[in-house]
Amino acid sequence: MKVLSALFLIAAASAEVPPGPGMQAKGGAPGRFIGDPMAIEAGKESYGLVCSGCHGVTGEGGRGPNLVTAPGVQKASDQELFGVIKDGIPGSDMPPSPLDEERIWQLAAFVRSLSAPAISQNVPGDRDAGRMLFYGDAGCTNCHMIRGEGGYLGPDLSNLGLTLSLGRIREGLLDPNNRFAKGFDPVVVTLTDGTRIEGVAKNYSNYALQILDRAGRLHFLASDDAAAIEFLVDSWMPADYPHTLSGDEIQNMLAFLSRLSLSSDATPREGAPQ
Ligand code: HEC
Ligand code: HEC
Repeated sequence: MKVLSALFLIAAASAEVPPGPGMQAKGGAPGRFIGDPMAIEAGKESYGLVCSGCHGVTGEGGRGPNLVTAPGVQKASDQELFGVIKDGIPGSDMPPSPLDEERIWQLAAFVRSLSAPAISQNVPGDRDAGRMLFYGDAGCTNCHMIRGEGGYLGPDLSNLGLTLSLGRIREGLLDPNNRFAKGFDPVVVTLTDGTRIEGVAKNYSNYALQILDRAGRLHFLASDDAAAIEFLVDSWMPADYPHTLSGDEIQNMLAFLSRLSLSSDATPREGAPQ
C-alpha cells in the first residue's frame, strides 16, 4: 500500500510543473521559480541558447528590446511574463517558445532577475560573514556609508537591496570601472596655489565644479580656481576585489549587500524558498 500511494504522489506531482532541483513544491509555480537562484541559473543557460541572439547576452537588447529596462517587463505580473515567453508576441519578431513549462518558468525567473531589486531575490551566502567582512578586512566603510556610519567617497549603500538588481550590485563590487554610479565620477583638481583635491564630481559645468573629497568636505570651485582638472578613467573603488576576496567571500558579501534596505517591511519575496 505504501508503495502504491507513493507512486500516486509522484504521478500527481509530475502532472503539474515538475519542481526543479532544490525547489520546494509549496506555493504557486511563480513563487517557486521567481527569485530562486537555481531556477535563475538554469534560465540563464537557456536564455544564452535561445534568446540572447535577439535580446543580447546580458539582456541589453538588439533585434528585440532591452530586457533590463523594458517597462513592459517591470509592469508584467509573473504569470504575464511567463505568457509572453511561452506564446511570443503575435505579429512581431518575438517567437513562441516550444520549451516545456518548467524551462519557461526558469526563463521568466532569469528575465525577472535582470531588473528586480536584489532584495526580492534569494541570494545564497552567509550574510553575517559578509557583514563582518564589510565592516572589517575588506575596508568598505572607508568609502561607503550605511545608516550614517562610514566614509563619503562612494555611494551610500543603506538602501542598496531595494534600489539595485543583484546583477548591478555584483557589477558594482567586481567591475567598478565599467560604469560609475551617478555623481561619483572620479576627479583630481589642482588649485592655482598648488593644493591637490581628490574626490568625486557631484556637479560640473564649464564654469564650476562641486567636488566631494574623502573626508566628506564639499568644495565649490569656479574654473578660475583650478590650474588643472583631471577626470580619471578608474573609479576610486578598488578594482581588485575579484582577486583579494575568495569566491565564498564574494558570495557572502553579495548576500549581505542584497539585503540592505531602509524599509522595515521589505522582506524577501513571498513564496521564495528560504
Ligand atoms: C527572433 C528574435 C527574438 C527572439 C529569439 C526572442 N525574442 Fe523576445 N522579443 C523580440 C522582439 C522583437 C520583441 C518586441 C515585440 C514587440 O513588442 O513588438 C520581444 C519582446 C520580448 C519581451 C517583452 C518585452 C516588453 O517590453 O514587454 C520579453 C519578456 C521577451 N521578448 C523575452 C524573450 C525570451 C525570454 C526569449 C527566449 C526564450 C526571447 N524573448 C526570444 C525578439 C525576440
Ligand atoms: C576607496 C574607496 C572605496 C572602497 C574601499 C570601496 N568602494 Fe565601493 N565605490 C566607491 C566609489 C567611489 C563608487 C562609485 C563609483 C563607481 O561606481 O565605481 C563605488 C561604488 C560601489 C558600488 C556600486 C553602487 C551603485 O550605486 O552603483 C557598490 C555595490 C560598492 N561600491 C560596494 C563596495 C563594497 C562591498 C566594498 C568593500 C568590499 C567597497 N565598495 C569598497 C569607492 C569605494
